[in-house]
Amino acid sequence: MQIILIGAPGSGKGTQAGHLSRELGVPHISTGDILREAVRQGTELGREAGPIMASGALVPDDLMVGIIGERLRQDDARKGFILDGFPRTVTQAEKLGAMLEGNGNGKLEVLYLSVPDEVIVRRIASRRSCPDCGSIYHLENSPPKVQGVCDQCGAQLVGRPDDSEEAVRARLEAFHRQTMPLVNFYGSRNALHEIDGTRSVEEVFEAVGQSIS
Ligand code: AP5
Ligand code: MG
Repeated sequence: MQIILIGAPGSGKGTQAGHLSRELGVPHISTGDILREAVRQGTELGREAGPIMASGALVPDDLMVGIIGERLRQDDARKGFILDGFPRTVTQAEKLGAMLEGNGNGKLEVLYLSVPDEVIVRRIASRRSCPDCGSIYHLENSPPKVQGVCDQCGAQLVGRPDDSEEAVRARLEAFHRQTMPLVNFYGSRNALHEIDGTRSVEEVFEAVGQSIS
């Protein structure tokens, strides 16, 4: 199973990828999570990417392609993967195509979670996430059992630094200008499934399951 999730910030990529990964037994590879971990650890990558992410802009393609190339070479990705947040530009999609060429690991399924900007802004304002295990919550739609504490690992939940109003506006702008062209890119090359991401998490998950079965 090789799955790519495309969608605006806050469209539910991380939420759906987490469920899919548990269901299918293939790794959830989130470039956002990889970058946030690098920022947390203060690595060279983190120092370079941190300010760019905080502004809501995209990290340069070369850097991202290198990160994904390395991640996809790890053993657990041989049986398949769920890519969340990569590719995000046509250049990244072309480089990914070249990496996957001839690996014989089955069909690439591309899922586009479609959610209007006004819903995105409401979702992101109430998102909380776990800095340790990456679990995602929403204060109203999917709150943790104990306020402010991760159900999975007990860590204190946090808001993301790039969830400020200004950064969200920049992220949405980057999505429309740089990532939306991927819908046409994949629409003309692979199976692209557009999924209405405004429904409940469970309903979206059901639609995702139907589109890849
Ligand atoms: P990344 O971490 O990928 O952020 P993003 O694309 O902006 O997406 P989000 O993680 O904000 O949202 P999501 O779609 O995962 O939604 P979620 O499931 O959390 O990237 C961050 C930054 O890193 C980028 O801005 C860029 O700088 C850099 N970067 C990363 N990859 C890059 C690349 N390839 N190239 C260049 N730069 C890159 O859900 C959101 C909220 O809604 C949650 O609270 C959730 O509980 C709730 N929710 C989810 N689904 C539903 C539903 N169906 N109904 C109601 N609520 C829901
Ligand atoms: Mg995410």
